[in-house]
Amino acid sequence: MKVLVTGGTGYIGSHTCCELLDRGYEVVIIDNLSNSKKEVVSKIEQITGKKVKFYLGDVRDKELLRKIFKENEINFVIHFAGYKAVGESVLNPLMYYENNLLSTINLCEVMKEFDCKNLVFSSSATVYGIPKKLPLKEDFSLAATNPYGQTKLMIENILKDLYASDNSWNIVILRYFNPIGAHASGLIGEEPNGIPNNLMPYIVKVANKELPFLNIFGNDYDTVDGTGVRDYIHVVDLAIGHVLSIEKINKDKGIFIYNLGTGHGYSVLELVNTFSKVNNIEVNYRIVDRRPGDVAECYADTKKATIELGFKAQKTIDDMCRDSYKYVINNK
Ligand code: NAD
Ligand code: UFG
Repeated sequence: MKVLVTGGTGYIGSHTCCELLDRGYEVVIIDNLSNSKKEVVSKIEQITGKKVKFYLGDVRDKELLRKIFKENEINFVIHFAGYKAVGESVLNPLMYYENNLLSTINLCEVMKEFDCKNLVFSSSATVYGIPKKLPLKEDFSLAATNPYGQTKLMIENILKDLYASDNSWNIVILRYFNPIGAHASGLIGEEPNGIPNNLMPYIVKVANKELPFLNIFGNDYDTVDGTGVRDYIHVVDLAIGHVLSIEKINKDKGIFIYNLGTGHGYSVLELVNTFSKVNNIEVNYRIVDRRPGDVAECYADTKKATIELGFKAQKTIDDMCRDSYKYVINNK
């Protein structure tokens, strides 16, 4: 079985390629390296001892997509490629709509041309908007609070319409909660450009003395200790969720939507303290104002993925903190 992985040199894509290769799938990657590095391909090969076929290019480029489908008999596509920074999407919405929507539409058109109609798509818990009730279930109402979230919501709707028009498509929409951690080898991980927006990459840079302290955005939420609570999931568990999704549409036909999280929330302070404990390193922080747009708590109901995919996150918050730091130490 051959899987085309768009955005396969990125953070979640690279870990997914490893899990696919470990289970005997062949992997073809297309990535324009706008947010990742070519070396990731050889790191994936080093981890798995298997070869990967890499195409440098853009998913918006239909001619390149046609070339890939002509040169490889693709059975499944996992579509990670896209932009993902919320703040940047507010400042430059057209860039987000253009890349995220066009890449998905062009990809689906070429998949249709080549009669490859098996797709796994990276969505996000952001499509639930401001949670009215927790834990979040797949059938809750959806809303977007920023252009990035809009692109995910719009793509989910495009895929639902596509399936309604032609039910020979098999589609899994995965709504990720907060992926952190890195491969246990320390060879691949998350490497954001510039000053990170997300919590774990920021903690890591503070621990590494690249930034002086972490700003904790508010300690007056109605949560266990006043700081924001999120459902952190180890990226390797998340990656395995993609393999299970492929197995699902290989046996059951249709369109399916799943949350991928652990179902447990941790506060910012709990994550900081766990990181300090397992890595035996101090993380300086100060409490500042709430970040506009943040919600107090967000965590998944994971029952549907457990029952229908057989998905259960295995790694603990200690593993997530240890592996996130190991990657940075290894790549200093
Ligand atoms: P990432 O930026 O590390 O990976 C995305 C990859 O896609 C990068 O390698 C980038 O170079 C590539 N890319 C972007 N646009 C492209 C294009 N037009 N053509 C070819 N390649 C392109 O991001 P990630 O964290 O691995 O996220 C993967 C997917 O998961 C994204 O769609 C993201 O929106 C979604 N997601 C991520 C998170 C998260 O917290 N990381 C949460 C929810 C959803
Ligand atoms: N936080 C800080 N300081 C920081 C960064 C974050 O205190 O420097 C706090 C936030 O206030 C929040 C928690 O840490 O309480 C997590 O924040 P992240 O920015 O790491 O993650 P979010 O839950 O805000 O958002 C992430 C992705 C979104 C995605 C969402 C749901 O960035 O794209 O998860 O999947 F939509």
